[in-house]
Amino acid sequence: MGFAVSIDGRVGSPEEVTLKITDNGFVFGDSAYETLRTYDGRPFELDRHLARLRRSIALLGFDLKTSDDQIKVQIDACLAFARNDESYLRVIVSRGVGDMTYRFERIAEPTVAMFVKPLEPSNAGLYEKGASAVIASLRRNPIEALNPAIKASNLLNNALATREAYAKGAFEAILLNTRGEVAEGAGSNVFIVKDSLLLTPPLSCGLLPGITRELTLEIAAATSIAHEERVLFPADLQTADELFITSTLKELAPVVTLDGAPIGSGQPGPLTARLLASYRERIKQAQHPE
Ligand SMILES: Cc1ncc(COP(=O)(O)O)c(C=O)c1O
Repeated sequence: MGFAVSIDGRVGSPEEVTLKITDNGFVFGDSAYETLRTYDGRPFELDRHLARLRRSIALLGFDLKTSDDQIKVQIDACLAFARNDESYLRVIVSRGVGDMTYRFERIAEPTVAMFVKPLEPSNAGLYEKGASAVIASLRRNPIEALNPAIKASNLLNNALATREAYAKGAFEAILLNTRGEVAEGAGSNVFIVKDSLLLTPPLSCGLLPGITRELTLEIAAATSIAHEERVLFPADLQTADELFITSTLKELAPVVTLDGAPIGSGQPGPLTARLLASYRERIKQAQHPE
């Protein structure tokens, strides 16, 4: 079980393959990234992740000439080097190596970096018992400032909110936008169930278009679960029948307490469990077609 790094196609251990200190990704957080995980050794929904990576890069305003096929070859090489049963995989593309200035014209080309490590099991009891969340005092970056739709490696907004959640003993921080509407979790998207209706905030509330969010909405549509993208406020979360968060690593994780108060029955809800089962079924189908 191991670690692997790839930088511009050079694959090796984290000790062997290193970044230049003047890389804009390190100096300014001037990079976009994707977090993926493998099931049966292969990354799940790789094409959607690569498409979102390209959208983030376009919003950051630079070009990536490396093709998806070339990125996939590098990912395969990294996974083969690491030899894990299941891996966590992060792909990071920065604007490139600069000189600690905003003279972007001096940068020759983007850096394509990858990091693989063994996938850590999720918290014990996460799906059976559910998790706790708090509404962070810190607000999500407004769309007009640093659009949360960009999966940018500048994660201070997320990291500070998560620190706040951890200081309160909670698993996840839920951030509101500057209008006081629910935006998203520090590392997840937010869903509620109210009177059998599945609800999640629209992208206009300022959030990452999560791939697990998208898959959850697709599953709801395919299985005739009533669903809607709707502006939500903290009171909607507090009075929900069910609350859950979604992410590539967490899948669909039930949240049973918010700011210390129980949500619904205080137990993971039936619709959350049903959607999680369908999500896992979809993973099986994707990784083992027919
Ligand atoms: C801020 C934020 N929102 C949402 C998500 C969920 O996105 P995805 O389902 O694509 O992993 C993440 C993932 O880490 C995230 O960092």
